[in-house]
Amino acid sequence: LVAGVDSSTQSCKVVVRDAESGRLVREGRAPHPDGTEVDPAAWEAALQTAIDEAGGLADVAAVAVGGQQHGMVCLDSDGEVVRPALLWNDTRSAQAATDLTAELGGGQAWADAVGLVPVASFTVTKLRWLAEHEPGNAARTAAVCLPHDWLTWRLAGSPGLDALVTDRGDASGTGYWSPAQEAYRLDLLERAFGSTPVLPRVLGPAERAGAVADGALGAAGGALLGPGTGDNAAAALGINAEPGDVVLSVGTSGVVSTVSSTPSADPTGTVAGFADATGNFLPLVVTLNAARVLDATARLLGVDHDELSRLALTAPAGSGGLVVVPYLEGERTPDRPHSTGAVHGLTLSTADPAHLARAAIEGLLCGLADGLDAIAAQGNPVRRVFLVGGGARSEAVRRLAPAVLGVPVLVPPAGEYVADGAARQAAWVLAGGSTAPVWPATSTETHEADPVPHVRERYAEVREMTATRV
Ligand code: XUL
Repeated sequence: LVAGVDSSTQSCKVVVRDAESGRLVREGRAPHPDGTEVDPAAWEAALQTAIDEAGGLADVAAVAVGGQQHGMVCLDSDGEVVRPALLWNDTRSAQAATDLTAELGGGQAWADAVGLVPVASFTVTKLRWLAEHEPGNAARTAAVCLPHDWLTWRLAGSPGLDALVTDRGDASGTGYWSPAQEAYRLDLLERAFGSTPVLPRVLGPAERAGAVADGALGAAGGALLGPGTGDNAAAALGINAEPGDVVLSVGTSGVVSTVSSTPSADPTGTVAGFADATGNFLPLVVTLNAARVLDATARLLGVDHDELSRLALTAPAGSGGLVVVPYLEGERTPDRPHSTGAVHGLTLSTADPAHLARAAIEGLLCGLADGLDAIAAQGNPVRRVFLVGGGARSEAVRRLAPAVLGVPVLVPPAGEYVADGAARQAAWVLAGGSTAPVWPATSTETHEADPVPHVRERYAEVREMTATRV
């Protein structure tokens, strides 16, 4: 048996699967505090509960951890956490991102160096913020790692800072590791932070990260540890995405990613040129406003999610000209960290719950469609689109997605694709070899619809019209 962990922004999930067949044997989950700044001890406590709920790890031969990307975990020379981790969704380092971009001469220089252009999400900007705003904590920081690195290290029994490890996928979201060169850019870390703390060693896709320590998180010890990876790379592995496959995830964040055999470098910063967990690359676009747009609209209309979906499907395509630009938390794509949401086109015939419900879902999907366009514009073929995440449980999202995106959409059953990807990595570490073990493909439901270009055109018009308050 192998186990895969998904330590996400809101909870921890553990799946135990048969290493050869991939069959699900047991699973467990536990919530941990949501937010943008969290004590890593809360992730560990949730992991412990989820492991217990999954029946423990005593009979498991290998474990790997998938986790939310980019979070800044600072450790002192004794391995103690210096301050609560700043997560991917924390925007306090927006100014640091602007400054760092300018200091290097703009987006092109960053894209050439590390495949991405700094935004507040990326670790490098959080380190600059720490150096500027909390110099005492910065001075105490002897090592910096990511959420999944820290949990892997805790499972190994916290064996000293030099034993910290990460993988290509998560390293590529720091802003100081180059996917194209497969190397840290310590000059960029030094520029951002003023010094170069210890960084985790970057392991290859199926390289062993040691073993679970006896007693660590109640485990019996001895199980192999995989390198783990960031949640988006883990999801791609869990879905078994191949070059040409696009994964569109409507979760806390909206993510459009594809597997590519070549690194990408978008100087506009729209597409982040990450690496994946198999030795390939994972160009990716993130929107901050995804499943929460559904939550907020349902709350506004005083209905539940099923009713929101039902209402949306009764309104016409394009919602009679009503547009919701859903930047409820500011936005990252396009980069408008301080923007707010907008509703445009209210008339006597559109001012009703059905039109508003549909406009909100169309707005959410138009943001993702922009992401898909940006990925395609980087020369990535779009062969298939998999729609996953909590938002994919909405029938309206499933039915409107192919119309707005203009391509058929495959919907796998609701599942724990991040934890599954981590489990598949654990099976790979156990089996060795140059490719991940083949597990049976998940069944998918195909949704097709006539494209509705006028919906995207009208959305783009309103998005630009409301762009003044960036
Ligand atoms: C990716 C990103 C998010 C987090 C969510 O760049 O910021 O998808 O990984 O966990």
